[in-house]
Amino acid sequence: MNVETRLNSALSLRDQFPAIRGWHYLDSAATAQKPQAVIDAIANAYGRDYATVHRGVYERSAAMTQSFEAARAAAAALIGGNEHELIFTRGATEAINLVAARFANGTRKRVLLSALEHHSNIVPWQLAGYAIDVVPLTDDGRIDLDAAEKMASEDHALISFAHVSNVLGSIVDAKRAAAIAHKVGTKLLLDGCQAAPRLPIDVADIGCDFYVYSGHKLYGPTGIGCLWGRAELLDSMPPYQGGGAMIDQVTFAATTYLDAPSRFEAGTPHIVGAIGLHAAIDWTQAIGLDALHAHEIALVAECRTALRSIPGVTLFGPEDSAGIVSFAVDGVHPHDIGTILDDERVAVRAGHHCAQPLMALLGVPATARASFAAHSDASDIEALVQGLHTVKRIFG
Ligand SMILES: Cc1ncc(COP(=O)(O)O)c(C=O)c1O
Repeated sequence: MNVETRLNSALSLRDQFPAIRGWHYLDSAATAQKPQAVIDAIANAYGRDYATVHRGVYERSAAMTQSFEAARAAAAALIGGNEHELIFTRGATEAINLVAARFANGTRKRVLLSALEHHSNIVPWQLAGYAIDVVPLTDDGRIDLDAAEKMASEDHALISFAHVSNVLGSIVDAKRAAAIAHKVGTKLLLDGCQAAPRLPIDVADIGCDFYVYSGHKLYGPTGIGCLWGRAELLDSMPPYQGGGAMIDQVTFAATTYLDAPSRFEAGTPHIVGAIGLHAAIDWTQAIGLDALHAHEIALVAECRTALRSIPGVTLFGPEDSAGIVSFAVDGVHPHDIGTILDDERVAVRAGHHCAQPLMALLGVPATARASFAAHSDASDIEALVQGLHTVKRIFG
């Protein structure tokens, strides 16, 4: 299905992104550009409808509360969840920190992660005092679930995997991961940062216990993210931060708290962030995650074929990567690749992608990474290939 045909707009899909005019933006895995619909929603929320939520008795505040809660419902529905189980956070990082700090599985003090995790899915567990066991990868860069099955044990409080790797684009078999977790009485958290903008997701069908994602990677604003968790798990977790909006009764002697999700949302929330995220979800769903996935899988195939034709280019990750192509050029540091491509108006990410353990495993200090989005097309790949020929010319 062509992504272009799904949107009811006079503008072409590419023209809906004002900030990419005149260049080839291939860094959507770091942060997605924003379609005009999202920019308009944010402008209207501040410039026309703005008021606080949950506390105001006046009409505009009640309307804003409705919009805010509608955003929660949309954020939950996007992943097949229930709005009462959806907590707004600052992003995926804060969501994982919250679970690491507050979820407890009896006295278990180990977690099972994979070798491809983002630092956001490593450091919070260390800070919370967990020992980490690391599931290796298959030769083509997927989380090795056969190994995970052997490693998972009753020592593990939780298994936490990236649903889609931000470096390799590999997609984990999430249903199997959930079954592996539950067989040993543990829980599964999926880091859906890269999956939410790229795949249809249904937490009920997957059977996972926690799911996190960030708004800014899903065509929405920064500073807003989502933590979905099973009600019984959220109910078992104490508050994360204290303050307004999360309490039932406060005295100097003792305080009682609201139920989830409010219990985990202390302080005035990112009201406009949630409204912007809602617009981004509506925009994404108008195209359809199935169509977006097919679009990005096709671009990855085209990109990998094109890059393979350039001598000295090494590709990382599997052929069916979801929207992400990491690569190296013999004898050229990825930062030099990024700088030369920038001269040709092509934006790629060069670095360790917040996955230093994975870089060590791949035996490289860094990679260059091209990542796609709804607005990406063949012209971006052509520009990337042209730019890499320039890189080759310069570095001879
Ligand atoms: C797989 C993955 N997990 C977690 C994060 C952290 O997301 P955020 O910085 O939006 O909290 C990212 C962002 O790069 C990511 O790609």
